[in-house]
Parts: sequence; structure tokens; C-alpha cells
Amino acid sequence: MKVTHFLIAALLTMFSSNVRGDYYTSIVSLIDLLEAEMQVIGFLEQYMEAMEEISRKANETLSELAYASQEADEDPEEYYENPLNAYKIISRFVIDWKKLNETVFDGTHAAAYTANLTELDSKEGYTAPTQEDLKGASKGLARLQRTYQLATIDVAEGDLKEMNYGQNFSTSECYWLGRSLYEAGDFKYASEWLIQARIRLAEELRASNDVPEFKEIITDVQVLELLAAALFYLGKSNLASFFNDEILAQEPTNENALKNQLLYLNKAHAERNAVRVVDEANNYLQRTELDELFDQTCNGDRQQTPREKRNLRCRYVHNNVPFCRLAPFKKEELSHDPPIAYYHETIYDNEMARIINATEHMVERSMVGDSKQSGYSEVRTSQNTWLNLTENAFLHKIAQRLRDVTGLSLESGESLQVANYGIGGHYGAHYDFSEEDDPDEDYDGQGNRLLTALFYINEVELGGGTAFPYLRLLAPPIRGSMIVWYNLHKSLELDYRTKHGGCPVLVGSKWICNEWFHIVGQEFNRPCGLEQDGYKSLPWKGLH
Ligand SMILES: *[C@@H]1O[C@H](CO)[C@@H](O)[C@H](O)[C@H]1NC(C)=O
Ligand SMILES: *[C@@H]1O[C@H](CO)[C@@H](O)[C@H](O)[C@H]1NC(C)=O
Ligand SMILES: *[C@@H]1O[C@H](CO)[C@@H](O)[C@H](O)[C@H]1NC(C)=O
Ligand SMILES: *[C@@H]1O[C@H](CO)[C@@H](O)[C@H](O)[C@H]1NC(C)=O
Ligand SMILES: *[C@@H]1O[C@H](CO)[C@@H](O)[C@H](O)[C@H]1NC(C)=O
Ligand SMILES: *[C@@H]1O[C@H](CO)[C@@H](O)[C@H](O)[C@H]1NC(C)=O
Repeated sequence: MKVTHFLIAALLTMFSSNVRGDYYTSIVSLIDLLEAEMQVIGFLEQYMEAMEEISRKANETLSELAYASQEADEDPEEYYENPLNAYKIISRFVIDWKKLNETVFDGTHAAAYTANLTELDSKEGYTAPTQEDLKGASKGLARLQRTYQLATIDVAEGDLKEMNYGQNFSTSECYWLGRSLYEAGDFKYASEWLIQARIRLAEELRASNDVPEFKEIITDVQVLELLAAALFYLGKSNLASFFNDEILAQEPTNENALKNQLLYLNKAHAERNAVRVVDEANNYLQRTELDELFDQTCNGDRQQTPREKRNLRCRYVHNNVPFCRLAPFKKEELSHDPPIAYYHETIYDNEMARIINATEHMVERSMVGDSKQSGYSEVRTSQNTWLNLTENAFLHKIAQRLRDVTGLSLESGESLQVANYGIGGHYGAHYDFSEEDDPDEDYDGQGNRLLTALFYINEVELGGGTAFPYLRLLAPPIRGSMIVWYNLHKSLELDYRTKHGGCPVLVGSKWICNEWFHIVGQEFNRPCGLEQDGYKSLPWKGLH
């Protein structure tokens, strides 16, 4: 049952760009969403105008009717002795009230509004965002906070790394964010956002002089219930118990709070007595040591030592290509072993614009490995597509440049992969090569992925670098630059030091494209070394 469900979901995804839960992964689909929102605003405005017109008409009639009945009310008996007045009241019911009924109950406008919305819903490629999307966006935000160590109090006021985007969060935004993070099992950030919700709620109450004008949508008790539970799962039962008592102070008969009281107290007692308590929160998120290394590499806490950097150079290279003697490549070495380097200004403005233009409406949620069968992986949140280098004439020059820079053949190369990352979009640490005993099964007999060439094709405001956690190396996105590295040792053994990933995008959107060169056809371009050098990276194998 479940398997079929996933299969259907996977199939659907292949044919439509914005499937459930996918909005947060791509800026492109958010732009579609903005268009939809503007349309909905138009529909509602039209509807509200019609309602105002109804209200105005009804009010007019109402005033007349009210005037007539007031007059009669002064001395009803005398009033109705006049046969004209007697006629009038009957006529009012049969004619005027009926007409008013028609005005008030006129359903055509509501029907038109509904029809407009239905039409939008059925538009190709559009699906209204769902709870799943909201959850995804919440997780994306929490991921940014965790990776770049952003304090919730700052983010809630729109501060991202010393830049202020003036986006103060409201009470309800904080609450719903906390709530979806709670549901996603991220209790640390859930509790922090719920605390922000409480602070805002208290301020709102003070500002309205303790007499809220509107019945508030979110109550302090609602926030406290989630907050206490989140703290409980975080292993802070003392605090959970404290906030639970606050609920009981406000609502002494609150059933949940009464039920939880004992649970929280017992756990707090156990903790005080140093009984080992399983950290359920961390279990839930399943964060590994590698996740920590990766985050530290992204946020700059983990860097190459000056000694490691000492022999790295920037220089012009021509790789013996005659044309490149005139216009050499600008190479910036990032690591000698394994070889990793930037090549700056290797893709031109018009090429980048064309790649984005050609793919922005084809991007699909990226899939990692065989996750086609098992739903989407949390490891990667981006949307991607492929461009065949042969079939797209505008890519021929890029293909030639790739050959010139690497000195390798594209005979066994894959299509160019183009990917777009949105809010918190990232790609967790992974290898580009296949660890299968027989990689040909994965790659159609082309051999394993030998070399990766990754172009940054747009400006990313903040975040979005490529991190190599084992090498303590971060390559920030530079528009027009390409990073190149070998995934295999000279002996063609797997180089486990090349584990890498895309850091979350903090501000902006990130477009990249990359080319994978395979082993087949490189016999004379990158001859095998004389020795087995795979031992060099073995200590990194199987770390996580
Ligand atoms: C809604 O639909 C009606 C007819 O179906 C159309 O006349 C109207 O212009 C639409 N409203 C908007 C805002 O497009
Ligand atoms: C209805 O009409 C009366 C008198 O004509 C006016 O005072 C009142 O503001 C109107 N109400 C609305 C809701 O337009
Ligand atoms: C107005 O509509 C209501 C509800 O449909 C109905 O009960 C009432 O009799 C109608 N009044 C007149 C005067 O038509
Ligand atoms: C944001 O809202 C909070 C709570 O209402 C307030 O304390 C804070 O000063 C606001 N910050 C900014 C930058 O407007
Ligand atoms: C972008 O692509 C569309 C077709 O997909 C084409 O009509 C348009 O001219 C392209 N724009 C640019 C600037 O290349
Ligand atoms: C690209 O297209 C050509 C011609 O249609 C085809 O022969 C080749 O296999 C394709 N390349 C890839 C990597 O799919």
C-alpha cells in the first residue's frame, strides 16, 4: 500500500513541476506562487467590491423601510386606519422585502469568486501550497539557523548575519513556525520560536491595555502547551514542568496540563537523580558527527590551517591549448591532494542567462540516488534538470572549455545538470562517485565519476558555498567561476576525502550547473598512476 503510494507520488513528480511540499526548494516556484497570490487578491477585490455594492443597495432600501415602519410605530392604530398605509405595509412585504431578499441572497458573486479560484487551482503546473510546504519551509529556516548559528531572537526580527531585512515576525508567524518545527521533531528551534511567540503575545496584550479588541487567535495557553512539550522532549523536564504550572495557573482545570504534570515532574526527578535519560530530541533529528563537521565548514568555524594554505597559488594556465595561450584560464588552487581548484570567469554572462532561461521552467525536485522509489530525500532540497551538451548548440563552446580546462574527453560525460536552490536549500555531504562494486551498473558502462566540474551561474547574496568537511574547505559561490575536483585517485580508487555538499542558501537563490566526467575514454588523458594510491583516503572511508 505504502509502496504504491510512493510510486505514484514519484511518478506525479516527474510530470509536474510544483508538487506537494516542493515550494520551499526553489525560488522559481515561489515566483509562480507570487503570481497566483496576486491573482487571488484580484479575485477577492472584485468579490468585495460586489459585496460593497450589495451592502450599499441593501442599506438604501433598509433606510426607506425603517423610516416607514418608524412612522407607523408612533401610533399604529391610527396609522393603519388609513387604507393607503394598510396597502403599503402589505406591498412592502410582497415587493420591497422580497427585492431586498434578492439583493442580499444574490449568490452570483460568490459563485464567480469560487469559479475564479477553481480555475486557478486547475491551472497546469500550479498546486496551492500545503501543510507539507509549510513544514518544508520551517525546516529550511531551522537548517539555516543551525548551520550558520543564527539566534532565533535575531531571525525573528529579520536579522540574518548582521544584515537586517526588516521582516519582523508576528505572534502568529512565530507560533506556527514553532508548531511546524515541533511536528517535524526539531524541538530545540521549536521551543525558541515558541518563546518568541510568547514575548510578542505579551507585548500585544500590553499594547491593547489588557483588553484585546479582537478575540486573539492564539492564546498564551496554546503556546505554553507546545513549549512545555518541546522542552520535555529536549530533556529539560524542569522547565517543561515550570511552564506546565503556568498553564495551570491560567486554567486550573486544563486537562492536558493536569495529565502532563505528573509526567514532567517524574522525569525531572529522574534527571536530578542522574538516571541516564535518552536524548530523544537528537535521536529524532538523527544528526551525525559529519553533519556537525559539515555545518562548521559552512559557517567558517572549520578552516584550512595556514600551513595547508601555504602552497596554494593563483595563476594563469593554458594546459597547452593554443587558444588558451592567448586567453589563459584563471586558476585558484584550493587543495593539491586531492586536486581541487577554482577556474574563474570560465562561463560568460550570456551563457549563464541562457542556461537559466532554458531551464527555469523545467526544474524538478532533485532526487538523490535511488530515492525515486522511496519518496524524496531530506538530504537534498533543490530542483534540477538536465541539458544535453550535444543537442543544445549554445553549450558547444562550454563543452570545449570543459575539455580544455580538464584535459579530459567528454565522450563518457553526462548531460549538464542544472539546479536551483531556494530558502535553506542545500545538499547534504555526499560523494559524487558510486560506491557500488560495479559502478558500470549505475553509469551505463561509462565507469565511475572521475571528475566534477561545477559552475556557479548566479550571484548568491549569502551562503550557498560548496563545503568539503574532511578537507576543512569551503568554496563560496562566485558567479562565472567553476570548481573542479577529482573524485578518484590516480589509481581510480575512490577518494573518500572528496565528500562534499552544498551549504544552505541564506539569502537569495542559487543556480549551479555541473558536468560529470567518467572514466571511459580518459586512458591517455589521465593515465593511471604507477602505484595504488587509494590508501591515502582510506581513513575517511565509512566516517559519518
Ligand atoms: C472571474 O471570473 C469572471 C467570469 O468567470 C470574470 O468575468 C472575472 O473577470 C474574473 N475575475 C478576475 C479578477 O479575473
Ligand atoms: C446606511 O445608511 C445610513 C443613512 O442613509 C447611513 O447613516 C449609514 O452609515 C449607512 N450604513 C452603511 C453600512 O453604509
Ligand atoms: C426572505 O428570505 C428568507 C430566507 O430565504 C425567507 O425565509 C423569507 O420568507 C423571505 N422573505 C420575503 C419577504 O420574501
Ligand atoms: C519586532 O517586534 C517585537 C515584538 O513586537 C518588538 O519588541 C521589536 O522591537 C520589533 N523589532 C523591530 C526591529 O521592529
Ligand atoms: C528565453 O526562452 C524563451 C523560450 O523558452 C525564448 O522565447 C526567449 O527569447 C528566451 N529569452 C532569452 C533572453 O534568451
Ligand atoms: C545527448 O544527445 C545525443 C544525441 O541525441 C545522444 O547521442 C547522447 O547519448 C546524449 N547524451 C546524453 C548524456 O544523454
